[in-house]
Amino acid sequence: MASNLNKPSFSTTLLAGKVALVTGAGSQLGIGRSTCLALMAAGAAAVYATDLNSGNFESLQKAAAAINSECRVEGRVLDVTSEEETLKLITEITREHGRFDLYFPNAGYVDVKNINDVTSVQIDDKPSSSGAIVVTASVGGMNGKYADMPYCTAKAAAIGMVRSACIQLSKSNIRINAIAPGFVATSLLSSSAYAQKGEKVSQAGTEEQAKADFFGYRKAQGMSEDYRYYFERVAMPEEMANISVFLASDLASSINGQTIAADSGMTEGALAHECLGGIPEVLPLEITLN
Ligand SMILES: NC(=O)c1ccc[n+]([C@@H]2O[C@H](COP(=O)([O-])OP(=O)(O)OC[C@H]3O[C@@H](n4cnc5c(N)ncnc54)[C@H](O)[C@@H]3O)[C@@H](O)[C@H]2O)c1
Repeated sequence: MASNLNKPSFSTTLLAGKVALVTGAGSQLGIGRSTCLALMAAGAAAVYATDLNSGNFESLQKAAAAINSECRVEGRVLDVTSEEETLKLITEITREHGRFDLYFPNAGYVDVKNINDVTSVQIDDKPSSSGAIVVTASVGGMNGKYADMPYCTAKAAAIGMVRSACIQLSKSNIRINAIAPGFVATSLLSSSAYAQKGEKVSQAGTEEQAKADFFGYRKAQGMSEDYRYYFERVAMPEEMANISVFLASDLASSINGQTIAADSGMTEGALAHECLGGIPEVLPLEITLN
């Protein structure tokens, strides 16, 4: 199970004034939802949470109120497989706020033929433009052993797109990076069945139920429940959100075209574990004070 992490928080001035759009932010426990919460905490002026599902948008708005955030939180139904719908919303946001700063293409599902979580977006090549895009890829796009072929192919394509797009977008002052999560306890396993069919449903269920479903699925698949080693831990969605918000912020101003593996070391560790077997803890240094 995920370890208890101290909750680091962003300065409320980090993203002051920024207007953001997050796709796949409609589940009760997900990277998109956590990204919206992190954007609010970092002082964004407006966050547009979008998804096929609309059932959890109200609770996002309540969460903003609970932390006294002045961030305007809008929930919209958006199917990212529709380029038309996506561009319509981006146009609406830009008209409303006079700016559009941060884009998080994060929607996705597993075990299907096609992922379509990143639609092409045309960005005006105006000299005054700037912004940041953070794509949710996966370690499945780096290492084939984690998921099915279409998923891995789509995520590898997303990583390739980020590398190429960083050149294409440079002149417009727009950075693009990706995160590649390992296993994250989210609604993914339960929401995928709906998402595969493109169903627009109000996704019921609590965060606790989503967590129970996630770990129940892992158990049923015979996946490791042995969390002795750091790389075997399962991350929580807010850990992914922290990295996405960092990458979108000026703190990451020199990072461009990169995919950050956010897998607690799983990609490296899994192979090492197979070859080396059990890995002993590093012995502490014996240091004598005075
Ligand atoms: N959870 C993990 O272990 C893990 C690992 C690596 C990568 N990821 C990636 O993280 C991203 C977010 O997933 P999550 O784990 O937070 O799961 P999640 O199910 O909580 O969130 C994904 C959301 O995407 C939405 N969605 C799917 N297809 C859509 C479409 N066509 N249009 C709009 N919305 C759509 C779903 O309704 C769902 O709410 C996905 O791209 C996923 O592939 C997750």
